[in-house]
Amino acid sequence: MSEKGIDGSVSVVTGAASGIGRAVALDLAERGSRVAVADIDPVGLAATADLLAERGHKPLARAVDVSDPARVEEFFDEAEADLGPVDTVVSAAGALATGPVADCADQVWHRVLAVNATGVFAVGRAAARRLGPRGRGCLVTVSSNAGGVPRAGMAAYAASKAAATAFTKSLGLELAPLGVRCNVVSPGSTDTPMLRAMTADTGYAPLLAGDPAAFKVGIPLGRVGTPQDVAAAVRFLVSDAARHITMHELYVDGGATLR
Ligand code: NAI
Repeated sequence: MSEKGIDGSVSVVTGAASGIGRAVALDLAERGSRVAVADIDPVGLAATADLLAERGHKPLARAVDVSDPARVEEFFDEAEADLGPVDTVVSAAGALATGPVADCADQVWHRVLAVNATGVFAVGRAAARRLGPRGRGCLVTVSSNAGGVPRAGMAAYAASKAAATAFTKSLGLELAPLGVRCNVVSPGSTDTPMLRAMTADTGYAPLLAGDPAAFKVGIPLGRVGTPQDVAAAVRFLVSDAARHITMHELYVDGGATLR
């Protein structure tokens, strides 16, 4: 299956060892993009590379810590040397930490900000340096609906995602005159290892029903999202169908944030 704007392109996807990033990499590859995948987890990344190879694709897979901007630059250089000029960049790497602010250790705050904010900066800057001068291409940051609505027990994560969203929109303004689009996809609860770890004690039922004590309304559409639901939104935003859309934040959360 090919898609205009994706078929024949070169894509970089971070966080591709698992969940949403893996689904995005598979989805773009299925539609004709040559993909370079990165993650800090080499084992999960090798599994993604195997899934791509089983489907006939030849990805470039590299262990990358997105909070290390020099390594991110190196990865983009490797991707371009191997696959050609990058057209599409998807930042899906992310780290979650939960718990009350009073109990949040300095290193937890710094780690969450390093991955979710500095990582998005490093990837966005690497994209700007390459896509900007060529005057084409697009970027999508996978942020979170928690960046736009207060959530108890998620302050560091919410702050990091608000930073990722604001950074991406500002980058979109900067690159718009050059013809490069930057958008945000903000998932709500999505069935991935990250969400499964967070709900290990409770399961998904409380997510659907909501929790008045925590001022959470639940999920109006009555289901937890799948990584493919999020990948479909990313696909739309990177395709030619979205050629007049930039600086947009697309919520994929079943209505959980009532917007
Ligand atoms: P996941 O935990 O399955 O995947 C996240 C991936 O990011 C993992 O493969 C992990 O190794 C990688 N990663 C973590 N730190 C990294 C680093 N420093 N450098 C490179 N890679 C790193 O989680 P999921 O759900 O697939 O998350 C994807 C994105 O979606 C994240 O940005 C997350 O914050 C966001 N998100 C997820 C939601 C959910 O309910 N699953 C809800 C809202 C947003």
